[in-house]
Amino acid sequence: MRKEVVVQQDPKSPISEIFRTLRTNIQFMNTKGKLRTVLITSTFAGEGKSWISSNLAVTFAQAGKKVILLDADMRKGRQYSIFGVSPRPGLSNYLSGVGANENEEKTKELIDYIQETPVKNLYLMPAGNIPPNPSELLITPQMVDLLEQLKEICDIVIIDGTPSQLVTDSLILTRLVDSTLIVTASKQTKKEDLKRVIANIQNVGGKIAGVVVNKLTVSAKKYEQSYYYGSTNMNRVKTSNNRKRSNITYQKASHLVENKNDGVKNREVQNSKTIDNKIKDEEELPNALNKQKNEKSEEVLIDKTHDILKQINEYLDEEKKKLK
Ligand SMILES: Nc1ncnc2c1ncn2[C@@H]1O[C@H](COP(=O)(O)OP(=O)(O)OP(=O)(O)O)[C@@H](O)[C@H]1O
Ligand SMILES: [Mg+2]
Repeated sequence: MRKEVVVQQDPKSPISEIFRTLRTNIQFMNTKGKLRTVLITSTFAGEGKSWISSNLAVTFAQAGKKVILLDADMRKGRQYSIFGVSPRPGLSNYLSGVGANENEEKTKELIDYIQETPVKNLYLMPAGNIPPNPSELLITPQMVDLLEQLKEICDIVIIDGTPSQLVTDSLILTRLVDSTLIVTASKQTKKEDLKRVIANIQNVGGKIAGVVVNKLTVSAKKYEQSYYYGSTNMNRVKTSNNRKRSNITYQKASHLVENKNDGVKNREVQNSKTIDNKIKDEEELPNALNKQKNEKSEEVLIDKTHDILKQINEYLDEEKKKLK
């Protein structure tokens, strides 16, 4: 498991404390028990969606919740490498019905697509092979059905999405999930872009849980270098070379469904369509997705989600006022 899963590696760190507060806020919003699927999106690439969704998922698992982290970024999903599990089969294979490897017998049960992680209570459905048509796969009834099934077998589904200003994948998902969290990067995200994303989500009927401001720059003197992000350059966006990591394991999440709904265990994947084009293994990323990689920064960064929480709290206060 990567060092960036800071809430697991260093549960006592201030960052972990912030993630716990974020969890509490999300739980607080869940008073009617209906908030079971949370999507993480952003305006552009590299703003911290995968980092925040992995840490948030672990934080829920640490509270004893059964969590499924769904990597819905079928273009450059990297959750498998964060947790050191097998990259496939995953969501794209499940939705398309195309096996993870050639000649592979088609896997049929949902449980075959979900893996255990080194974190107790946390299960991961990786993104799978890169398909030629991620957005089309997300519009299928299978996606709606998948979320329903996942909700049946766990307490909360955290979904790592794509940037909403670049591709429509996450916008499609905002309609299917209970709530959406928008991650923005300090000094990177433009207000107009954020406003546009918020408007787009609201236009399709999606609910927004809050906005997370990530990557705030802080003075190095204020923080110990021991914090994970204390010595990290935020611009080292990973490439698909991650897929070549060798220390990955595949541990089928067989006992995830043991005590839950048996119907789910034996349920077959119904595919509405098969992909005509063969799934490409290492598709080139659109240039736009890489556009934020270039900026060079010597600044020492740390996640200072306090400001995010301030915004979420403001949002919650407004919601509370509406209830009165
Ligand atoms: N608060 C932070 N401080 C420093 N680096 C960070 C922070 N949050 C994320 N990063 C780093 O920035 C890079 C991009 O983060 P991440 O992969 O989470 O972004 P993303 O929004 O999922 O990107 P993409 O759109 O490409 O999927 C990673 O190397 C990550 O470790
Ligand atoms: Mg990501």
